Amino acid sequence: MAEAKPSLPADLRCVLIDEESIRERVLALAAEIDEAYKDITEPLILVGVLKGSFIFLADLSRRLTIPHIVDFIAISSYGNKGDKRGEVRLLMDTRENLAGHHVLIVEDILDSGSTLSYLTKAFKARGTKSVETAVFLDKPARHVVPVDIQFRGFEIEDVWVVGYGLDYKERYRTLPFIAEMIPEN
Ligand code: XMP
Ligand code: MG
Repeated sequence: MAEAKPSLPADLRCVLIDEESIRERVLALAAEIDEAYKDITEPLILVGVLKGSFIFLADLSRRLTIPHIVDFIAISSYGNKGDKRGEVRLLMDTRENLAGHHVLIVEDILDSGSTLSYLTKAFKARGTKSVETAVFLDKPARHVVPVDIQFRGFEIEDVWVVGYGLDYKERYRTLPFIAEMIPEN
């Protein structure tokens, strides 16, 4: 018997990236990361940017076969809610001392680039061996600050998306897929 397709909440327009596509892409990204870091002699430090990256980081880290340590930071960004300053502030630092380590920043989405530009500079200044970035989603139309991304999940249009860690006013983070929101007005 054919299964009924679950309907989306009224404020979500459509599913942009389904669960199966996410699973496949994350597996491929993990293989790319394994390959890129296969010769390092100490564990890679994955630094997830809270809160949006927590699901991507959980899935990615479980697919990696290289030794790695999971850590987190929290930042506040003033660039996302109509305010164009793009200022970034560190709210919670890593538990690990990053000096002397290879660091991979794991972020949910690249928008203006302010967050990743700030974090890359800040981590490089700590005497890390390398700082690279893995982003699940990228909105190229929104870039303001140039950032060099080594590992990228999907490119999307300039629309607000939720699910797989991403939220709208803290809602929809735990949807297993990426959906497009219908703007409020
Ligand atoms: P910047 O501008 O620093 O911003 O690259 C990255 C942060 O912006 C947020 N962001 C989104 N969050 N759906 C979300 O839930 C979106 O479509 C979206 N676009 C940007 C997010 O917090 C990201 O870390
Ligand atoms: Mg974020």
